[in-house]
Amino acid sequence: MKNCLLHKPVMVDEAVGRLCLKKGYKVLDATIGHGGHAGFILKKIQPNGILIGIDRDKDALEIAGKRLNKPDKICKLAHANFKDLDKVLKDRGIEKIDAALFDIGISSCQIGDADRGFSFERDGPLDMRMDQSSPLRAYDIVNKYNRIDLEEIIRDFGEERYFRRITGFILEGRRKKPIGSTGELAELIEKAVGKWYKFQKIHPATRTFQALRIAVNGELDNIKIALGKVLDFLNSNARVCVISFHSLEDRIVKLRFKEFESEGRGRVVTKKPLTATADEIRENPRSRSAKLRVFEKY
Ligand SMILES: C[S@@+](CC[C@H](N)C(=O)[O-])C[C@H]1O[C@@H](n2cnc3c(N)ncnc32)[C@H](O)[C@@H]1O
Repeated sequence: MKNCLLHKPVMVDEAVGRLCLKKGYKVLDATIGHGGHAGFILKKIQPNGILIGIDRDKDALEIAGKRLNKPDKICKLAHANFKDLDKVLKDRGIEKIDAALFDIGISSCQIGDADRGFSFERDGPLDMRMDQSSPLRAYDIVNKYNRIDLEEIIRDFGEERYFRRITGFILEGRRKKPIGSTGELAELIEKAVGKWYKFQKIHPATRTFQALRIAVNGELDNIKIALGKVLDFLNSNARVCVISFHSLEDRIVKLRFKEFESEGRGRVVTKKPLTATADEIRENPRSRSAKLRVFEKY
């Protein structure tokens, strides 16, 4: 495991506060990361409370385990995809939980490590896997997918209006030699659409990199499936909080919560998503795109 900066949790008071925790509660942290939120959760549920922490990233879990430093009967960690939370909970003998938190997206450590291949600002292999044991890498999508599939990914998961032109440049580029690194891909995208991004706040590769990351990790399907499952495990009056970082995820959370409400399964606590305070955004710019939504089960 590499050394990396600890991830700074976002909207801690807003999220942990809205879980309405009490001593002795059983809580699922579905994206434990470096255990930032989990540390605050544990303080509220001890003694006798149990935290179940999931992450797809083995390195993150190792950091969380060391940082939280609790025996397995208090803090049960699982290397898994949160879409399999039912299996994780059952395997650990947990039938019901009193709260759940999803802080979806990537950690600062993942984005900061060039070797993980998430960032167009740091040259590294085209990887982008949250779970390093899963078979599909960004390299495979960029170099092996056909035009239609590539265009669809960049259009739908990146909301990139220049998806056709970017795909064209990728196909042309890979005909000469495989596109092997994040730097090569970013340069190619810049050549393709740089002039149209000159007066925009984001780098021309931002949307395509987001699209690839979502496709590599199946991010949108994971959250859809997991929210459906988590409700079955929540006790009556228990809450689930979801922090998301881009509009596609936030839309899924909003629609799922509305669906649950219309089925009479509970109520949406946050009619509008909560966002970070100006002070937090100043201290931790990553929090500026965070949106928190809360649902309470009947
Ligand atoms: C924003 S970080 C969470 C940070 C954490 N709340 C903290 O305070 O340290 C998101 C984490 O979710 C993990 N993750 C993303 N999608 C996942 C999934 N489908 N299943 C399990 N973990 C996932 C990532 O590996 C990453 O470590």
